[in-house]
Amino acid sequence: MQLATQLDKLGTETAFAVSGAAAAWAAKGHRVYPFHLGDINIATPANITEATYKAIKDGYTGYCPAAGIPELRAVLAADVGSKRGVHYSAEQVSVQPGGKPVIGKFIAAVMNPGDEVLYPNPGYPIYESQIEYLGGVAVPYGYLETPTGFALDLDAIKRSITSRTRALIYNNYQNPSGAQSTRQEMEALAALAIEHDLWVMSDDAYYEILYSGQAESIVNIPGMQERTVILYTCSKRFAMTGWRLGAAIGPKAVIDVINKLNTNVESCSPHFIQRAMVEAIPGDTTGPDAIIETLQERRDVAVAGLNAIDGISIAAPASTFYLFPNVTKIMARKGYTDVNQLMTEALTTTDVSFCTRKHFGRPLPGEKEHYIRLAYSGIDTEAIKTGLARLKEYFEA
Ligand SMILES: Cc1ncc(COP(=O)(O)O)c(C=O)c1O
Repeated sequence: MQLATQLDKLGTETAFAVSGAAAAWAAKGHRVYPFHLGDINIATPANITEATYKAIKDGYTGYCPAAGIPELRAVLAADVGSKRGVHYSAEQVSVQPGGKPVIGKFIAAVMNPGDEVLYPNPGYPIYESQIEYLGGVAVPYGYLETPTGFALDLDAIKRSITSRTRALIYNNYQNPSGAQSTRQEMEALAALAIEHDLWVMSDDAYYEILYSGQAESIVNIPGMQERTVILYTCSKRFAMTGWRLGAAIGPKAVIDVINKLNTNVESCSPHFIQRAMVEAIPGDTTGPDAIIETLQERRDVAVAGLNAIDGISIAAPASTFYLFPNVTKIMARKGYTDVNQLMTEALTTTDVSFCTRKHFGRPLPGEKEHYIRLAYSGIDTEAIKTGLARLKEYFEA
């Protein structure tokens, strides 16, 4: 008996293997400093858990519409639209069990086999996996390192567009690099999408994880809302990674197809969580709250800890909860060529666990610099300080 050959195209989140290695090391009695997780060790706000208990007690435990309950669709349309300066109607919202399902469903909705889809690399690995699994050609685009962070390699994007390019995946604010587009950069990207008539998926998983400045969205640029599907998720914003609630928001024609896919795949998203979020989301304002303040404090400690290491220099990203330091000098000092060797040795030498560039898409031809990714969402401030002090000792040795 053989399994489907198409499965050869399916990738995975290899970062989960890092969790496995960290757990195995912890099981041997070591205290692990977990910088590898994009998970959050902050409690979900009490108003959400209370509203969920109530919804369960009130009996919202059965199936509900595949597109989501009308009240939540309306609430999400208003919240996501107002935070981006555009208007959405409830029928432009498809509720999902998390943000991740939007990726495969968007691609399935707009891409024909053999079509090319541009995606960020380094980037969330599921883009590459889903494009290829669904029979498309995954065309990577990268970022340029600047003294203030990372910028889209717009020239590379321009060069990569062909007559077969169908869609562009854009992740702002970006995992793993923490890149945040300037308005100018966003407008240049939008101009390319419009000129080449591309569908766009704007992965807004970290849209509300912003420590300073005003949030900016590509849908706000004329000509973009009608070609863009937003990936929205409660996971990071409300520290709800395990709850599984998100949404696809965009043109009705695509959302109708995504609703049909919902019926085929999961029937509906959890009913009682939807009820709870009908109450929680309208009260959500962008700006500091307990979750953002905790993350910002951790960011500052982590950036200081990394910059104290000889050979590392990193600017503090204003968004996401990831740091993506260039470790090329550390690699040279150690005489390593494979950044995963640095990761493996760091775990056993210092108990510090992190991901590397290799967990965020296949490295691009000609890449010479080495990067690691540290998440500070799942580790407390004191552990950040101790972990990075241990890393300093090892990296400088
Ligand atoms: C860029 C990006 N998009 C989407 C997701 C998926 O989020 P969710 O947990 O809501 O499925 C993640 C999760 O880490 C992410 O980093």
